[in-house]
Amino acid sequence: MRVKGEKPWPPESLKTEFSVRLLNWIAIIYGEKEICMEDFDFENRIVSPTEIMGENDNDNPLRPRRLDDYIGQEKAKENLAIFIEAAKQRNEPLDHVLLYGPPGLGKTTLSGIIANEMGVNLRITSGPAIEKPGDLAAILTNLNEGDVLFVDEIHRISRAVEEVLYPAMEDFAIDIVTGKGQMAASYHLPLPRFTLVGATTRAGQLTAPLRDRFGVTLRLELYTPEELARIVNRSAGILGIAIEPDGALEIASRSRGTPRIANRMLKRVRDFAQVLSNGVITLQTAQTALDRMEIDELGLDSNDRRMLNAIVKFYRGGPVGLETLAAAIGEEAVTIEDVIEPYLMQIGFLNRTPRGRCITRAGCLHIGMDIPDLPDAQIRFDS
Ligand code: ADE
Repeated sequence: MRVKGEKPWPPESLKTEFSVRLLNWIAIIYGEKEICMEDFDFENRIVSPTEIMGENDNDNPLRPRRLDDYIGQEKAKENLAIFIEAAKQRNEPLDHVLLYGPPGLGKTTLSGIIANEMGVNLRITSGPAIEKPGDLAAILTNLNEGDVLFVDEIHRISRAVEEVLYPAMEDFAIDIVTGKGQMAASYHLPLPRFTLVGATTRAGQLTAPLRDRFGVTLRLELYTPEELARIVNRSAGILGIAIEPDGALEIASRSRGTPRIANRMLKRVRDFAQVLSNGVITLQTAQTALDRMEIDELGLDSNDRRMLNAIVKFYRGGPVGLETLAAAIGEEAVTIEDVIEPYLMQIGFLNRTPRGRCITRAGCLHIGMDIPDLPDAQIRFDS
């Protein structure tokens, strides 16, 4: 989740060690089993929707290249098809597009599809990578007419860079200032007309002027198990993996609504099928493989279950503030918000309330915990 070179405070190591020690201290008081650092390995878990090195490569064969090959996101896809067709008929570049939604749903893939459908080049960068206005100017002046510039994590661009982006998006021009004081000079530099595709997991963090400059805004939703099963079948076909329909559906149901996780699980389940049986992914092999990786039938791993457990055990089901919960499980608050919570809320295991996070009755039942018997717990669980 973090960009290379950034130095967060407190450092990740100190923070997790601290919270592990704190939790162990609480565990001793409550007579619970102590935990170790490995219990909090959120970064490398198979159900993480954030990309692992190589998954986001442009030549990833699993990545669909055309809208027709792209499964799911029907509403966004239908509208996008119209906008692309209309722009092509008018011989104009597509208007700037903002894609938002949880990670792993195909924002980069869609930007590639837009470029392919428009018949132009794709240039990929990210908000944190554009450090100075000059970096953005260099990217923009190297674009060709109609090109798509994909800016991932666009909510993380600096104010100074954002100021350059406004006239670039609106007027296809930038103003460059050289020199200082009496030697200062300003140049108005026209740019080729381009399409900016901005992607963010946090649309609320974009400034209003930036948000307003996107002509098209598309919200990506978590996928249904049926859509994910189609993606798993398509990927298995491309990778030459033999898979039965109920094997695909089993992988899909445990993939937390996220194609990136489904494709990752497919490859790991293939390993089990290859070594332990005849290489064919059946319902049985998928179940065995995923059970052995401790991913339950709803796609929760031990870290999700531990977070839900912590809410019940330490905060009596909630409400618990995001920062408090983050410190308790040794995770960054943004990771909980962007990565862990969307799925737990979608399946009805967690509620966000103004006073903090609350586990629901269904969440309690899933982790096999008793439902806390408190007056305000009644309000939460009945809602
Ligand atoms: N692979 C990853 N995401 C996909 C999608 N939405 N459709 C088809 N294949 C995919």
